[in-house]
Amino acid sequence: MLDSHVHEWLNLLIRWIHFIVGIAWIGASFYFNWLENNLDRKRPPRDPIAGDLWAVHGGGFYHLNKFATGPEQLPEELHWFKWEAYTTWLTGMMLLILVYYFNARIYMIDPSVRDLSAVEAMLISLGTIAGSWFVYDGICRSALSRRPRILVGVVFLYLVLLAYVLSAVFSGRAAYIHVGAVIGTLMVGNVFFVIIPAQKEMVRALVENRSPDPSIGAKGLLRSLHNNYLTLPVLFAMISVHFPSTYGSSANWLILILISVAGVMARHYFNIRKAIRSAWWFLVAAFCILLGAMWLAYPKSVGHQQQAVSSIEAMAIIASRCSGCHAGNPSFAGLSSPPGGLILETVEHIESHADSIYQNSVLTHTMPPGNLTGITDAERQALAAWYQSHRDSQ
Ligand code: HEC
Repeated sequence: MLDSHVHEWLNLLIRWIHFIVGIAWIGASFYFNWLENNLDRKRPPRDPIAGDLWAVHGGGFYHLNKFATGPEQLPEELHWFKWEAYTTWLTGMMLLILVYYFNARIYMIDPSVRDLSAVEAMLISLGTIAGSWFVYDGICRSALSRRPRILVGVVFLYLVLLAYVLSAVFSGRAAYIHVGAVIGTLMVGNVFFVIIPAQKEMVRALVENRSPDPSIGAKGLLRSLHNNYLTLPVLFAMISVHFPSTYGSSANWLILILISVAGVMARHYFNIRKAIRSAWWFLVAAFCILLGAMWLAYPKSVGHQQQAVSSIEAMAIIASRCSGCHAGNPSFAGLSSPPGGLILETVEHIESHADSIYQNSVLTHTMPPGNLTGITDAERQALAAWYQSHRDSQ
């Protein structure tokens, strides 16, 4: 086992890199989409330039041309965009191992969902990520590739099924991060196995002075389009760990799907708004779907015992069920610092964090993770009563 302090710093370093290369990848991808949507395509016939645009940024003017097929000659230096995607995936997998596999009991397993062993959880994780690529790639290579809309529908159904099954196997938090990891893997797989090979074929054709195989280009284009629509859902899945009201809800899989659909619609709006005036309807629809998700995630009213519960009594529950981890110096094995920076050791601590305690251990049952410390329903209700009286006294 890694020293827990070293573990924490590895986490810090890899997460930082993951974040930076992820921004570089998605940023470049957004930028090229934006270029495509904003090119001035009014050109004289037979102009080799398909479109151009002017931009000003960082103290200079830029003039970009897009070629209809390719330049006459291969330029001396041609820039590729691929390492951003590959390193995002590699660092993402490292984080999955470091955060989730190393602490499977805290982060992946919820015995009230399914009582897995750590090894089973890891095997399911790896199997799902690798297997999903083969399923998706198989769907894209099948006869459905000639019916791109139906193909998208089938891929969507697969992702719905995946969210549903994972939420019945893993803790809510791990289910969400795995849906994100799967979507991210499909996107990077598309870059590695399809899009970059298509671009290489274009370059080879140029060098050999022949026209490139159009079918390869078409495949690359389809996968690029998929990636474009998958970016917003994957980004939500990555930040979802901060929102227990989503993954901690009993309808967590459906909430994830709704938020993802809203993300796809928002993306669609940005893709078509130049061409279609009524595009803003997609934004309205996305907003309504988000409202629906918010309503679904609304916590069911929780019963609480009638008797008032004092902060001292609440502190006694929290001391036995939470403070092993949420302490300046946690006693729980594998933790070198309080998770989320949250310390719950005194009455003042719990009073100032009353809202998040209520959110995480009463409204949702995300804390204690996997109920590792065996909090009882009566204790949760006592915390609810404490929260009520604490809030009323404010
Ligand atoms: C086994 C260790 C463990 C126990 C026991 C535990 N927690 Fe946590 N807690 C965690 C971890 C891990 C996180 C997630 C931190 C992160 O996001 O990386 C967390 C996060 C939280 C957060 C969110 C902090 C933030 O980032 O905003 C709250 C609130 C919380 N716990 C409350 C509780 C309460 C209340 C209890 C007792 C009922 C409890 N925890 C018991 C490990 C524990």
